[in-house]
Amino acid sequence: MSERALRIAILMGGRSAEREVSLHTGEQVSRALASIGHEVVHVDTADIGFIETLRTGRFDLAFICLHGRFGEDGTIQGLLELLELPYVGSGVLASALAMDKVVSKQIFVAAGIPTPAWAVVRRGHPYSVEEMVGRLGGKLVVKPVSEGSSVGMSIVHEPAELAPAIERAFEHDRTVLIEEFVAGAEVTVGVLGNSELTALPTLEVVPEHEFYDYESKYVPGMSRHIIPARVPDVAREECQRIALEAHRALTCRGMSRADTIVTADGTVYLLEVNTIPGMTKTSLLPDAARAAGIEFPELCGTLVSFARER
Ligand SMILES: Nc1ncnc2c1ncn2[C@@H]1O[C@H](COP(=O)(O)OP(=O)(O)O)[C@@H](O)[C@H]1O
Ligand SMILES: [Mg+2]
Repeated sequence: MSERALRIAILMGGRSAEREVSLHTGEQVSRALASIGHEVVHVDTADIGFIETLRTGRFDLAFICLHGRFGEDGTIQGLLELLELPYVGSGVLASALAMDKVVSKQIFVAAGIPTPAWAVVRRGHPYSVEEMVGRLGGKLVVKPVSEGSSVGMSIVHEPAELAPAIERAFEHDRTVLIEEFVAGAEVTVGVLGNSELTALPTLEVVPEHEFYDYESKYVPGMSRHIIPARVPDVAREECQRIALEAHRALTCRGMSRADTIVTADGTVYLLEVNTIPGMTKTSLLPDAARAAGIEFPELCGTLVSFARER
């Protein structure tokens, strides 16, 4: 290792719906960083006392292994800014923008990036099922605006299913996103870098279920990764171009992962950008990095170096 050993706070756990995933990520990132000589300290953010731990812990850097709210959404990033503690990944603005699936889509559109047509419903506000089905089609995807890991998400096959799906999403958020269902290959693209960005190889996700739901994401064997994605070369390049473009448009730093769908005619639609993608050894971005010759410990070390560069 070229760098001196650093004392790194691994922020993990927390209070979001993705707590379990986060603990798992934190565990693996810790092991990787320890294996390349860093000193790691687990900091669970579920108890607000962690702020004092960070303030007095003489850390060089924080590695945020949190997903969803109070982790990926800019709140922790804001705290780390106040504490003047460097951290891995995107800053306050990009984190908050990417976490809101509707605001992100507006930015994608402004940047000329194709994204599935959509509607927004706010809790307590009326909406028309006919209008939505008329505009977006009969097969729809309903998601809470600020969750990840497919939490609270449904696929709607007929109009009668729409209202119950919206209610389910309201259990997680006061704003719900309704998208046209786009059929195609699911292709995700990791992006690494600070001023100079690299798009990792395209990774096609083949879930056992109808879509890439919670179980497909976290239960081994419930999804397959195919690298590079089985789509035409031009579509692969387009996925990578879009991932880089979206990373810049949202002002991301260090890393991100863009989830796209490539239709049969090769059109690429961007679903979302994750600023703290899953970081277990078998997660999507680490898998794509490995295909590019970057093993997991090196990946974690590189992300730490990016954070130090700033
Ligand atoms: N508009 C859509 N058309 C088809 N499938 C979708 C659409 N939106 C989401 N999905 C499916 O749901 C999964 C999760 O959606 P995504 O927008 O990436 O949210 P998150 O990963 O944050 O839960 C996707 O990986 C894909 O399988
Ligand atoms: Mg996703």
